[in-house]
Amino acid sequence: MTTLDEVRGWDAADPLGAFRARFRLPEGVIYLDGNSLGALPHATAARMRDAIEREWGDALVRSWNDAGWVEAPARVGAKIARLIGAEADEVIVANSTTVDLFKLAIAAAGLRDGAIVAERDNFPTDSYVGSAAAALIGRAFRAVPAGESARALTADVAVAILTHVDYRTAVRHDMAALNGAARASDTKIVWDLSHSVGAVPLDLHRDGVELAVGCGYKYLNGGPGAPAFLYVARHLQSRIASPIAGWWSHAAPFDFAADYRAAPGIARFAAGTPPMLGLLALESGVDLMLEADPHMLWAKSIRLYDLFAERLAQRCPDLAIVSPADAGRRGSHISIAHPNALAIVRALTARGVIGDFRTPDIARFGLTPLYLSFTDIWNAVETLADVMDRAEWRDPRFSQGGVVT
Ligand SMILES: Cc1ncc(COP(=O)(O)O)c(C=O)c1O
Repeated sequence: MTTLDEVRGWDAADPLGAFRARFRLPEGVIYLDGNSLGALPHATAARMRDAIEREWGDALVRSWNDAGWVEAPARVGAKIARLIGAEADEVIVANSTTVDLFKLAIAAAGLRDGAIVAERDNFPTDSYVGSAAAALIGRAFRAVPAGESARALTADVAVAILTHVDYRTAVRHDMAALNGAARASDTKIVWDLSHSVGAVPLDLHRDGVELAVGCGYKYLNGGPGAPAFLYVARHLQSRIASPIAGWWSHAAPFDFAADYRAAPGIARFAAGTPPMLGLLALESGVDLMLEADPHMLWAKSIRLYDLFAERLAQRCPDLAIVSPADAGRRGSHISIAHPNALAIVRALTARGVIGDFRTPDIARFGLTPLYLSFTDIWNAVETLADVMDRAEWRDPRFSQGGVVT
């Protein structure tokens, strides 16, 4: 059995330990929700001050050229490409994950006739988008259980929207195997990498990914509502078209031409003026992430998970983990099922241990190796054990009211 002294020793020897000081983490808080909203890097606060006061305040409109704002969507996309095993010209930052999913679903469906499929129990935006996209272009739509995604890749399916890591359970799809199946059925998979990017090592080229989107505000620490990114493999870029023909996706935006002509590369998947402050905050988060070795991050995520699971088995043996024990099949969070999960999460939050609740019965804890220590995990489970021992979650303060995050 692991001891607290050993755990402290792991922190002292942790090669990623120095990253913690690069984040603003409030005293008395153990933050286990970086899979929902990543923490604030100190560098981002400074970058935002500079962007607002100097670039916007002083330089005004000149900053579109002088401060590199025009190039920012492609520049930050190229940085994200390094995190996901893509080429620099295959990724662009634009819009939100939801809007990017919609753009790529419609674009991919243009390649051939056939149905659109999405997962029923995964993050709902994916199936909402899939269903609406299908209705718009007159295609059939099917929602399938995530566990049956492989069987859903049949010859009559043109597009499948799949989430790499399940937002509730952390179950991770076998990306390479599903892409192989999709090639056989001539289906284009649009991968949602929201719970993978910055969390599990990704190599989109190795695994045969052609289309993907991902979230900027979770493990990339881009800030609340940070813009998303989208990836289109180079060989597909000229063959598909975004349904949103905007001036930023035009081949020559500043010609202000009367007729639309799509940009030749990944830029054709932009739309309108990018939200510059959010984009620059995302860039700061991505820059920090690029300093860390992704394999080291993943190795630490596994150890954080194992410690959480070991301590939970020791201190709260009645609580059931629903995430896969096999690290090769999961993302970077750990989830517990309990009929009173919402009240438990609220009781923990009141004690400074911040996780979150997902319906119907999941208490979810994000394991972010960049800023969490092993001692944090130890202390979080100790607090959870205390909340359970005292049945603190029965307190009416924690069992009433709706869920907002
Ligand atoms: C799998 C998945 N996709 C998409 C999103 C969010 O999409 P958007 O940024 O458009 O709100 C989330 C947010 O939690 C998510 O978990």
